[in-house]
Amino acid sequence: MTSVKFVGARDVAGTAALVVFVGEGSQLSAAAQAIESAGGGQLGRAMKTANFTGKKGKLLEILAPAGLGASRLLLAGIGEPAKADARTFEDLGGETAARLQTLEPEVVADFSGIADLAVGTDVAAAHFAHGLELRNWRMDTYRTKLKDEQKAKLATVTLAGAPEAAKALSDRLQKVAAGVAFAKELITEPANIIYPESFVERARRMVEPLGIKVTVLDEKELAKLGAGSMLGVSQGSAKPPRLLAMEWNGTDNADAVPLALVGKGVTFDTGGISIKPAAGMEDMKWDMGGAGVVAGVMVALAGRKAKARVVGVCGLVENMPDGNAQRPGDIVTSMSGQTVEVLNTDAEGRLVLNDCLTWTQRTYKPKVILDFATLTGAIIISLAHHYAGVFSNDDALWSQLEAAGRKVNDLVWRQPLSEPGGHYDQLIDSPIADMKNLGPREGGSITAAQFLQRYVDEGVQWAHIDIAGAVWRPKSAALHDKGATGFGVRLVDAFVAAHFEG
Ligand code: BES
Ligand code: MN
Ligand code: ZN
Repeated sequence: MTSVKFVGARDVAGTAALVVFVGEGSQLSAAAQAIESAGGGQLGRAMKTANFTGKKGKLLEILAPAGLGASRLLLAGIGEPAKADARTFEDLGGETAARLQTLEPEVVADFSGIADLAVGTDVAAAHFAHGLELRNWRMDTYRTKLKDEQKAKLATVTLAGAPEAAKALSDRLQKVAAGVAFAKELITEPANIIYPESFVERARRMVEPLGIKVTVLDEKELAKLGAGSMLGVSQGSAKPPRLLAMEWNGTDNADAVPLALVGKGVTFDTGGISIKPAAGMEDMKWDMGGAGVVAGVMVALAGRKAKARVVGVCGLVENMPDGNAQRPGDIVTSMSGQTVEVLNTDAEGRLVLNDCLTWTQRTYKPKVILDFATLTGAIIISLAHHYAGVFSNDDALWSQLEAAGRKVNDLVWRQPLSEPGGHYDQLIDSPIADMKNLGPREGGSITAAQFLQRYVDEGVQWAHIDIAGAVWRPKSAALHDKGATGFGVRLVDAFVAAHFEG
């Protein structure tokens, strides 16, 4: 966790790294101007030398700046001030963390006198700190031989000259960042460390102190409930399955209709008997990314005491080949009573989610369900890593998700879905059971969604978010390093804030 401090504009001198802001056309903020006047024109010369004009997202670093205690000065470009918004400052915070993480223990950003911003300086400052904190996350748990210069040092971001209102906003954003960090942690841990039972324990330790009620179903209880679909996936693994439910109620009505979140938590997906190729199989440690997002969202919402009732349900299993593993062609009976012909044991996510959807609807009677799942490789072919695919039975719900995603840059793109019985739905009809778990190769993400839709009750607004691409990115961006992104946590947080509170 990165700590965020607030100081007045004048307390800045003598700090580690100092950030000041520059608008397009080399417009210095008041803080930058003061340094320029005191330092004999060094900023102007440096900007000219580097062709730095204050373009949005650009940083110019001046080492050992004259007349300042700071070890380095970063000029941060905000572009045209009238267009500089929360995102602009978030991205700059992120870029600053990426650059200084192993170099400086503290970053001081001075927000004094930035003219004509599209947002208040409170928003700018809080989001700068937020971006910095998000990007500052990394996992060094298993790196025992790091040299000093490779170790993460950045621990504090100090906001100077920010209005009082920045504090409350920053506090709230820090809670959200904690949720993102928890999701990334779960997703990044290897499958010998995070498996169904250990996922539950780590989540429990995190969420119970926040006032979240935890319910866990073990194998016996799942069997009693008839979760034959989820248990079929799990039966080849030495690790027993778990269904984890987390309830947050920030309303004063114990019976408020909850928003339900459901996450795919396949802690490792070998494919089972329909085994995956060896190359790249290690990526399947993050096949619990949907469950990771759900746990992260719960941390964020409870952390900031969201005035909403939200339940998060994670279906946790490991998909392994074994003498006891399920075979292609097996027919399983799901909790709903519907039967499934398992044609490919690697299409296991839907076999876990269906029972979780049924249990969630029976237990909590939600009107809105969002499920998050690293469900198909096909969604990565469609959308690469930039967008998550959304399949929804409700246009209004889709629009709300789209808007929330834009707000926090967790981008989503809608994908097609047929009505029950429609043309895409027919592709998973089975000659021997109610449905098969596999459609044709073409449209693989769509038939996966159609499968899930068969478990959604009449009248429930539902969206399935396929995050197979967005959960883990091969390249870094402003707010995350390469690897786990925490995608979805900020999306749901924004969605809840807009539609489930007050
Ligand atoms: N977890 C995978 C989907 C996946 C693949 C996520 C690659 C991220 C990267 C899922 O369980 C799976 O194996 N899906 C199959 C479905 C197919 C057998 C119908 C796939 O996408 O190939
Ligand atoms: Mn699979
Ligand atoms: Zn999978």
